[in-house]
Amino acid sequence: MGVVSHVVIFSAFCLFAGHVAICFAEEIPGHLQYLGSHRPAEGTIGIKDFWPDPATFYNNYIKPGKPLLFKGKAKGIPAFNLWTDEYLRNKYGDIKIDIEKGKKETRQGGMLRVPMSTFLNLYKEANIYMVYSLGSKMMEEFHLPKPLLCGGYTKILQDAVLWFSSGGTKSVLHSDDIDNINCLMDGTKRLIFIDKKYKDLVEKDGFREDGGYSSVDVEKVDMEKFPSFRNIPWSEVTMDKGDCLFIPTGWYHHVSSTGPRNLAINIWFTHLPKFNHTDCAVPGELPESLPLTKFKVASLNYDNEEVRGELTDLLRPFKDQEISKDEFLDATKEAQSDLQRDEWINIFDFIDGNNDSLLDWMELNSFDIDEFIKKFPNFQVNDEAKNSGENEKKHEEL
Ligand SMILES: *[C@@H]1O[C@H](CO)[C@@H](O)[C@H](O)[C@H]1NC(C)=O
Ligand SMILES: *[C@@H]1O[C@H](CO)[C@@H](O)[C@H](O)[C@H]1NC(C)=O
Repeated sequence: MGVVSHVVIFSAFCLFAGHVAICFAEEIPGHLQYLGSHRPAEGTIGIKDFWPDPATFYNNYIKPGKPLLFKGKAKGIPAFNLWTDEYLRNKYGDIKIDIEKGKKETRQGGMLRVPMSTFLNLYKEANIYMVYSLGSKMMEEFHLPKPLLCGGYTKILQDAVLWFSSGGTKSVLHSDDIDNINCLMDGTKRLIFIDKKYKDLVEKDGFREDGGYSSVDVEKVDMEKFPSFRNIPWSEVTMDKGDCLFIPTGWYHHVSSTGPRNLAINIWFTHLPKFNHTDCAVPGELPESLPLTKFKVASLNYDNEEVRGELTDLLRPFKDQEISKDEFLDATKEAQSDLQRDEWINIFDFIDGNNDSLLDWMELNSFDIDEFIKKFPNFQVNDEAKNSGENEKKHEEL
């Protein structure tokens, strides 16, 4: 049966006429091949060799959700020149960092916590990937770039993460529910991008809602298990050493890296629902970038920010909409909580910074969480939420 001998690459269908079967073999482009092999990449993304000002960046990229490559702009960030292996060993050798076992992401394995110096001894040979949320000391040498210096971003910074390996990493195909600028300090990265408008195609089969990622094997796409992938348009971006890339919330991306040394830092920030021009009305030119330590970053206040997380989880159905007091009180009925109605009203008024009787996603993500906890020490939405640990990293000590 020569026609269907390549059963792996071809799928066959047969027509039956009496006792005679006529079979046709149909090639499925990209079947069991690397993600993107099913059709050529198309479209290009914007490239700038300067930092746009915050309002322009908001209107042209954040608001419509369009990726943008900042060519060479990581070179102005101190970490770019400073963070050699020798420097990291001398200055930060003792700090405990987090590594993933395996450069191909599965989201199944746990994390290991080891001293930076141990990672530096091992990473050239071992199949490990540092994915480490920067502490405040290292944040001094990573900067917030100009497009984020005013307009509201500085109040909703979430995390800065260091990604470090000897190359060869492969992420799952995933999207994030916040915005992200990734700066590459060493090596190259290649991204396969799929526009968020193809959500239905990407998420039709085998999509993990909880983690926002597809279970497709990026190195071997099974077009029979994921038939909607046969039609997905995609684009491609290569980041060279010194480039930064804006990855908008909702865009699916698969990231692979090459070495021999690959080091990137990315900054996560909540999607800004409205640009605040008042915040930008300071006289004078904005600097190219400022040390991240000048700003509040939620990851440094992890325990308290967990409390905000309980509240935003409860109100997630209203993401990017305004929430009236009645809608808020309705939603809070879902919470397993002992709080009384008038306490929830006080909470609403506390979060409603501009007193317009509407909560928006910005207010929820930017109210002063430390004040909140002082004011509402008994606030608790759901005991289980604390222990479910979907977002919690599980650590083993080495
Ligand atoms: C806009 O920014 C200014 C200055 O940072 C701040 O005082 C004001 O509360 C902000 N407005 C809104 C609606 O967030
Ligand atoms: C909102 O109301 C509170 C309490 O009445 C007040 O302290 C605060 O200054 C008001 N904020 C604004 C932006 O009007």
